[in-house]
Amino acid sequence: MMIRQSPFLLGLIQTSISKVSARCLTAQAASALQENEPMIRHEEYAADIDWNNLGFGLRQTDYMYKSKCTKNNTFEQGQLVNYGNLELSPAAGVLNYGQGLFEGTKAVRGEDGRLLLFRPDQNAIRMQIGAERMCMQSPSIEQFVDAVKQTALANKRWIPPPGKGSLYIRPLLIGTGPILGLSPAHEYTFLVYASPVGNYFKEGTAPLNLYVNNEFHRTTRGGAGGVKSITNYAPVLKPLLRAKEQGFSDVVYLDSVHKKYIEEVSSCNIFIVKGDVISTPSTVGTILEGITRKSIIDIARDLGYKVEERLVAVDELMEADEVFTTGTAVTVATVGSITYNGRRVAYRTGDGLVSQNLFKRLVGIQVGKVEDKYNWIVDI
Ligand code: COI
Repeated sequence: MMIRQSPFLLGLIQTSISKVSARCLTAQAASALQENEPMIRHEEYAADIDWNNLGFGLRQTDYMYKSKCTKNNTFEQGQLVNYGNLELSPAAGVLNYGQGLFEGTKAVRGEDGRLLLFRPDQNAIRMQIGAERMCMQSPSIEQFVDAVKQTALANKRWIPPPGKGSLYIRPLLIGTGPILGLSPAHEYTFLVYASPVGNYFKEGTAPLNLYVNNEFHRTTRGGAGGVKSITNYAPVLKPLLRAKEQGFSDVVYLDSVHKKYIEEVSSCNIFIVKGDVISTPSTVGTILEGITRKSIIDIARDLGYKVEERLVAVDELMEADEVFTTGTAVTVATVGSITYNGRRVAYRTGDGLVSQNLFKRLVGIQVGKVEDKYNWIVDI
């Protein structure tokens, strides 16, 4: 197929990333276009989307990135392909033994038109740590970040207008090689797909009502709770659905040994505020090392708050002045109430919250409005 000069390719060529990666990106995009002959999209924005009501549902976008690792423990040069279903062996490691990791990161459109990613290298590092725990091969940090950039740029028309949401980017690493006996797979696939999203919770930006579950635990010491294994998520569906049936937004889990210390929420990390101290459970292998969590800790300290990472007892949660949660999907969400053992406590909400102060600073950096002195933003 002849590659005609299209706005899509020109858009890719005109990216402001380094000349080397821009050349590489263009070559890869061109090869993807040749092999898959996708429809070339000319418009700045995808049509027929109500950008004001995005929510967190999957919307199929145009392209996904794919790379395999079979021999030599290295991933082949990946390429963009049309978004679509995968073909898998029924004996694939991920299907039989849950050998899989996922990540979440976002691309946003700044008011000045720039397309920005937030700390994708941190997702790459976390995937490498998770892969080591799950005995999987993982892509290099450079390949991971390049794949995220390519996926965001190829699906640029799905990046919402400024202030309307983001393109949620979902990197996946899965054991695709067939394996019958319990053992690591011999082939891994690294995939990146994306979907435009708005608020994670149906509450939108209204305060959340959380339920502390002391029957089910998310993970335990020595388990895989500290990495983003797919196996950490299906087990929380039961307590999550039960809580939602009763009108709660999400579930807070307690440690499985003492049933006394808070760990995290099904979809995010948790913080409490008491006086001028912000506290959050320390990451001791049972809590996901959230990228938003650690960014909020840095921002809070720079804003003059005292931040403690430590064991946080559920009793302290019930006596806090303010509670909030953090995550890539969630960003920073204010908690309005917690219910534990039949008792409901309500927290202060409204103006002047610590969580809102942190939220504004974080989002300001993410959309390029607040100076990024941390070097967290990647302009693509
Ligand atoms: C994220 O925040 O990116 C997550 O992976 C949480 C997921 C449950 C949506």
